[in-house]
Amino acid sequence: MFQRLPHVIRERFIVQVDGHPVDAYEGETILSALLSGKGFVRHFEFRSERRAGFCLMGACQDCWLWHVSGERVRACTERVTPGMRLATSQPGSVR
Ligand code: FES
Repeated sequence: MFQRLPHVIRERFIVQVDGHPVDAYEGETILSALLSGKGFVRHFEFRSERRAGFCLMGACQDCWLWHVSGERVRACTERVTPGMRLATSQPGSVR
């Protein structure tokens, strides 16, 4: 379970994930924001299980997400930015 440090003052903003707002704080990774906010990153492609990343350091590819523009991103190595809009499945793909 991820928990943010309460004594650190950082800018708070919202990122959109599949059209839903998720709280994020300046300097944290997308993965940290998602695990702190909703407790998982995405659903497994072939089952309904939730995925939360595995290595947390850019090596395993378990945390791939997409910017809504279609660019793929590792949630554990990219920091959140204000206005960021992400998708948990490839934009334009059929699920
Ligand atoms: S959690 Fe392994 S690459 Fe992101």
